[in-house]
Amino acid sequence: MKLLVLNGPNMNLLGMREPDIYGNLTLEEMNRELANYVQSLNEQIEDVETKIELYFYQSNHEGMLIDVIHKAHEKFDGIVYNPAAHTHYSLAIRDAIASVPTPVVEVHLSNIKSRESFRAASVMAIVCIAQFMGKGVDSYKEGIVALAKYVKAQRIAEQKRKEEALKKEQEAAAAAKAAEEAKLAAEAKAAEEARLAAEAQAAAEAKAAEEAKLAAEAKAAAEAKAAEEARLAAEAKAAEEARLAAQAVTTDSQVEADNAPSAAQASVVEVPSSSVIETKVEAVDPNAPIEAVDVSIADATNAAETTPDGEKKKSRWSLFKKS
Ligand code: DQA
Repeated sequence: MKLLVLNGPNMNLLGMREPDIYGNLTLEEMNRELANYVQSLNEQIEDVETKIELYFYQSNHEGMLIDVIHKAHEKFDGIVYNPAAHTHYSLAIRDAIASVPTPVVEVHLSNIKSRESFRAASVMAIVCIAQFMGKGVDSYKEGIVALAKYVKAQRIAEQKRKEEALKKEQEAAAAAKAAEEAKLAAEAKAAEEARLAAEAQAAAEAKAAEEAKLAAEAKAAAEAKAAEEARLAAEAKAAEEARLAAQAVTTDSQVEADNAPSAAQASVVEVPSSSVIETKVEAVDPNAPIEAVDVSIADATNAAETTPDGEKKKSRWSLFKKS
């Protein structure tokens, strides 16, 4: 760390100036002793950042001192300051110290509290972090040690503050990330659920459509079948009616004609009766099997004939092999 040893008016005259109060050391000799002291301190300090570098400045001019104080924070970590006579009255310097972040330790060679009453009061004390007096050059040494400890403590506190801020930042980032991930997961879940619901709805609709199609097809098939059956029934009925109508006008002679088998095919199966009136057997193989035939049954009444003696002939049943 870099510390500035700053001395106010008349301090350039040390050694010559009231030696019974301020000692025999010149300012230059005092500064050299302080430099040696700091060197011995640094030998005990391992941390390079904590090793002390001393710088020195003295001015008899209030404005010059104020300017140095104003800019000190640009280069130094703190000031060990003997304001000399300004201690007791310079509100301008007091305000300068209060205006900057640079920590300042107030030091005096003599004990200002045990001298003239006008020296007892320090307008600087209130804006400085500590005050050492009455020990000659050792007041400066104590001031250097106190300031070095203060600066180190400030650095540690600043480092801790930065770490906590970084930790909070990281925690906030992690929380934001977790929230974002949760949001994305919820969105993905909702999308998946919507997709599944849409799929289910589409499947239900397809199933309903397929069922409707099958039902329509079944209905159409049933209607077609019913229509076909109705058509066939109508045809059968018409055919039957036609056949019955044709049969109704059939005369006996027609029956006879109908009953006359062709020479090649007809055979007459005799109805078991002792009073068969007429049998026609033509060139037919009597041994030939009678095949399954459509049977045309002549109506017995129509086929009946009357014998000469007035008896009704027995009905004759003829089976014809339909050509
Ligand atoms: C002094 C004390 C002041 O009162 C006096 O004006 C100084 C020196 C000291 O170091 O003891 O100049 O600051």
